[in-house]
Amino acid sequence: MGKKIFSGVQPTGNLHLGNYIGAIKNFVDLQNETGNECIYCVVDLHAITTKQDPKILKANLRETTATFLASGMDPNKSIIFNQSLVPAHSEGSWILGCIARMGWLNRMTQFKEKAGKDKEKASVGLYIYPVLMTADILLYDASHVPVGEDQKQHLELSRDIAQKFNLDFNVPNFLRVPEPLIQKNFSRIMSLKDGSKKMSKSDPSDLSRINLTDTKDEIKNKIKKAKTDKDPLPIDDKNLNQRPEVKNLLGIYSSLSNQSLKDSIDDFRGKNFLNFKEQLADLVVEKIAPISVEIQKLQKENNYIDSILKEGGEKANAIASKKVEEIKKIIGF
Ligand code: AMP
Ligand code: TRP
Repeated sequence: MGKKIFSGVQPTGNLHLGNYIGAIKNFVDLQNETGNECIYCVVDLHAITTKQDPKILKANLRETTATFLASGMDPNKSIIFNQSLVPAHSEGSWILGCIARMGWLNRMTQFKEKAGKDKEKASVGLYIYPVLMTADILLYDASHVPVGEDQKQHLELSRDIAQKFNLDFNVPNFLRVPEPLIQKNFSRIMSLKDGSKKMSKSDPSDLSRINLTDTKDEIKNKIKKAKTDKDPLPIDDKNLNQRPEVKNLLGIYSSLSNQSLKDSIDDFRGKNFLNFKEQLADLVVEKIAPISVEIQKLQKENNYIDSILKEGGEKANAIASKKVEEIKKIIGF
C-alpha cells in the first residue's frame, strides 16, 4: 500500500536552496513514487499568525505555488491548494483545540522562539498554530508527513491530539495517527557565510543563501564567495564536524547529486576548493536555474496559478469537509 502524504509550506516568498533540499525535493520524490497519494498545501492561515501585508501575502501565495510547480510538483498527480480555500481547516482546528491541553501547547519550543521575549504581544493564533497544523493533517487521514526536524514536536502533538480524540469519544482509529517523515541526511542546509546558522530567508545577507529565483550568474557568484577554510577538501569524515562550512557544501553536493556524503568526499578527497566549487556551482546551476526560469515564467501567469489552486481546493474540500462532518457527528453536533 502506498502512503498518504500531507505537507504544508508557508507562503513567505523567497524560498531558497534549504527549503528545496529540506522539503520541496522530497515532496516531488514522494509524488513520483508509485502508489502514494500526495496533498500539498500552501498554508496561508498559518502565515497570518504574524502580521502580513495583504498584497504581499497574495503575491507570496502565488510565488510559493509557482515554486512548487516549477520544482516538479504536478497538479495531475498531487492535490495542490491553499489552506484558506477549505473552511474545514478552520472548523477542524476549533474542535481539536478543545481536545488539546494548554500544558501540551505550553511545551512547544517554536512558539517560544517565535514569540520571543514579549509573549504577551504574540497573537493567540501563533499560540494555537500547532492545532491548526494538526487539523491540516488529520482531516486527510494522512499516514506520513514529510517535514523538517524543526516540525517534529508539532507532529508529536498532532499524534497526541488524534489519540486523545479517539479515546475521549471511544472511536478507535477514527483519526489516523500520522508518522513524521524526517530526512536523515542533509535536513539542515546551513548559511553559505556561517556554517553554524541555518540557511534562512530572514538572513540580511543575500550571499548567505541561494534563492530559487537566482540567475545562473548569481548562483555561481554565491558559491564562489561561500565561506570555506584554508585546508584542502577532507579525505574522510573524521574532522568534518569541526569544518561546518565545508561539511555543508559537501552536503549540498551530495543531496543534489543523490549520493552519500561519503561518495562526495571520495570524489574530491584532498583536492583544492577552486575545482570543487566550480563543480558544485555547475551542479547547483543545473538543478536550480531551470526552476528559477520556470518561476519567472509562471509569475506572469497569475490566472493559471489561481486556477491550479482553485481546482486543488475543490478536491481538498471534498475530502476535508466530509471528515469534519464525521467529526461533528461524533462530538454530538
Ligand atoms: P519555512 O519556510 O522555514 O517554514 O520552511 C519550509 C520548509 O523548509 C520546512 O519543511 C523546513 O523544515 C524546511 N527548511 C527551511 N529552512 C531549511 C534549511 N536551511 N535546511 C533544510 N530545510 C529547511
Ligand atoms: N508548520 C509547518 C512549517 O512551518 C507548515 C505546516 C502547516 C505543515 N501545516 C502543516 C507541515 C501540515 C506539515 C503538515 O514548516
